[in-house]
Amino acid sequence: MSQKIFIFDTTLRDGEQAPGMHLSVKEKLEIAHQLQKLNVDIIEAGFPISSKSDFDAVKEISKVIRDKSIAALARANFKDIDAAGEALKDAANPVIHTFISSSDIHLKHQLNKTREQVLEITAESVKRCKKYTDNIEFSAMDATRSDKEYLVKMFEIAIKNGAKILNVPDTVGYALPLEYSGLIEYLMNNVKGIENTIISVHCHNDLGLAVANSILAINKGARQIECSVNGIGERAGNAAIEEVALILDTRKKDLNFYTDINIREIAKTSNLVAALTGYLVAPNKAIVGKNAFSHEAGIHQDGMLKDRSTYEILKPEDIGLSASKLILGKHSGRHAFVKRLEDLGFNLNEAEIEKSFERFKSLAEKKGAINDNDLKAIIQNETREIKEYFKLNYYHILSGTNVKSTSTVGIDINGKLFESVHFGDGPIDASFKAIDQITKISTNLIDYSIEAVSEGKDAIGAVKIIISNNGIEVLGRGISTDVIEASIKAYINAMNRIVENQET
Ligand code: KIV
Ligand code: ZN
Repeated sequence: MSQKIFIFDTTLRDGEQAPGMHLSVKEKLEIAHQLQKLNVDIIEAGFPISSKSDFDAVKEISKVIRDKSIAALARANFKDIDAAGEALKDAANPVIHTFISSSDIHLKHQLNKTREQVLEITAESVKRCKKYTDNIEFSAMDATRSDKEYLVKMFEIAIKNGAKILNVPDTVGYALPLEYSGLIEYLMNNVKGIENTIISVHCHNDLGLAVANSILAINKGARQIECSVNGIGERAGNAAIEEVALILDTRKKDLNFYTDINIREIAKTSNLVAALTGYLVAPNKAIVGKNAFSHEAGIHQDGMLKDRSTYEILKPEDIGLSASKLILGKHSGRHAFVKRLEDLGFNLNEAEIEKSFERFKSLAEKKGAINDNDLKAIIQNETREIKEYFKLNYYHILSGTNVKSTSTVGIDINGKLFESVHFGDGPIDASFKAIDQITKISTNLIDYSIEAVSEGKDAIGAVKIIISNNGIEVLGRGISTDVIEASIKAYINAMNRIVENQET
């Protein structure tokens, strides 16, 4: 008989640990609602002790998502666990996820503790979680580089003190598939009491093996997979939820497992997470990349025209991609616009619809046809509510061969126009320097990327930048058919986020 695999979604916790990523409480709530539609079993909503915004996100999600388990992360100490317990107070099904390292490398270099001390902390911490809930998940961090016998001892202590889920993280994404599934088998055979727990797997993707390791592990007894939308997470990320779900669905007869994931919600979920995090999906990404269902080679196209089964193992409709090729333009009405956005997974409030419709109209005026990628770019880059302390009024560029680039920028602050002019190493550098003079915020540019979001010479350019201010990294986004304007908007957007962070 086919067996259920529980899906533990960590998009809002490990996913949000991806470099430069920051989601507001409101954005996390929006993603949590979509995860509810996707029908994951557990939503790990955050790490409450780490920041007020993480604490608030766990609290708010606990209040409104009643039919899913809500998990909160806590290191193995009372302060973390109490914060997690407090944030989960209103949850219908709270899970405290507590963890401590088990590898000698971490014990020596990070914790500076002996194996015995760490076992004592494990016992005390799991016991502390019971003050708040019986649903306790215990993770042995860096499990795959740990001594197996020590790991057995640690898990037995966790079980004895009340852990119901035992998580085996491949924290550094080092394990090979057979090694990892071998470890799960070893634990299944050696940990006393393991039969009364659920074994969970949490694989990182440093060597591109996160999904393969997770799938092999269920053959040896794991029954929960921890994963994230679009595979986002620390460093190279976590196992991608869409890949896990589609592997188990497409190959269900061979694997004999199922999940409760509503795979028709996958495209929408992926779009929403990409939009709110600014982490765009690579075109060749399995399942949700924009090329996942495109056929380029003549022989493939010929086969597809004869019968789709020749080159397609999945249908775009399966993951909720609509077959509609509806193109919107400057004559399209608001109703058609909103309907298309809903099909793409975006449920905007009135103010956001207003703003995005305005942007859509002005782009349609310049560009003509607006396709789905253009629409996603508008939402991803310019629609979300963020207070505009600084608002671009105008810019002029002087640039060319043998000319020192000069940018003049005008920015509105509280309705008053401030102007500045600056030289630079190219028009973008000159513009950023002019903006710095106006905002008086000092920043380091950490990352700058530009992507054409649609085809053709008039394609929209989406600029994503990461800047740091006092050690805190923020993301800024901007779009335009003019890449200099897109860059200036992205920079100002990041400046606005810095001010917003300072105020909250
Ligand atoms: O990768 C990891 O080890 C983690 C733990 C907190 C489970 O994210
Ligand atoms: Zn992790």
